[in-house]
Amino acid sequence: MIKKAVIPAAGLGTRFLPATKAQPKEMLPIIDRPTIQYVVQEAVDSGIEDILIITGKGKRAIEDHFDRNFELENRLEEKEDQLLLDEMRRLSDMANLHYVRQRELNGLGDAIRYARHHVGNEPFAVLLGDTIMDSVIPVTQQLIDTYAQFGGSVIAVEEVPHDKVNRYGIVGGRPQSDRILELDTLVEKPSVSEAPSNLAIAGRYILTPEIFDALEQTEIGKNGEIQLTDAMRILLKRENIYAHRIEGKRHDIGNKLDFLKTTVEFALKRPEFAKPFMAYLKQVVAQAE
Ligand code: G1P
Repeated sequence: MIKKAVIPAAGLGTRFLPATKAQPKEMLPIIDRPTIQYVVQEAVDSGIEDILIITGKGKRAIEDHFDRNFELENRLEEKEDQLLLDEMRRLSDMANLHYVRQRELNGLGDAIRYARHHVGNEPFAVLLGDTIMDSVIPVTQQLIDTYAQFGGSVIAVEEVPHDKVNRYGIVGGRPQSDRILELDTLVEKPSVSEAPSNLAIAGRYILTPEIFDALEQTEIGKNGEIQLTDAMRILLKRENIYAHRIEGKRHDIGNKLDFLKTTVEFALKRPEFAKPFMAYLKQVVAQAE
């Protein structure tokens, strides 16, 4: 039903400088896989095979990562490292990936405008390229299921502390069930007093193609950028929009502390590292106390 996904990955990654001066933040690795590989995997695990990545200046490494590298494959063949060879080939076969470059960095809403031609007239998923979700059911799949039930655009949300609402898009609406809200407002990075709730937009969306017309009408908003949240507020005048409180954990890789936590949590989930890494952590903590 949802066949296409868009991954915006053009941002400068200023929160992670200097590491992101000469490499995309989406290529920062969590253990041995770049962040964007987890994001592509989530889309694939949600039944999506056609993925458009919005890139920009300095983002070539993303394309190279998902492309074949024959020199490397030859070397692995010579070394008879079949496991790694298979993994490299699977990587370039994960999905049908397409790329378009955002010419100027005018915000998330502007980035999504570049997807219009590729997406055409069908609903599509958006997954922010610097956000990894850890969940049993892929978060994009959770949104697709809600879209199937309610129709209309669906946004992933999660509760954040009240004093942090000014870092996110915040939604307000009427509960339809335990996890679903029908929205009556969305505000990008409101002050604590303006915020309609503490439910923050969590970096995953299902959007109807009507968003493209709304984006054309969207004026410059917070931080001098075209905001997707503002376009959705325009869309809300024409269609219902739902928020889905996600089951799972969001990891914002663009944030240094979150990045460290994600590395630790994901390492503890990897069978080959779990035991020795836990032993090491205990030792480090004991020494620090
Ligand atoms: C973007 C969105 C915001 C959302 C956030 C989630 O903001 O504009 O609505 O809550 O992602 O990470 P950014 O973090 O790019 O400033």
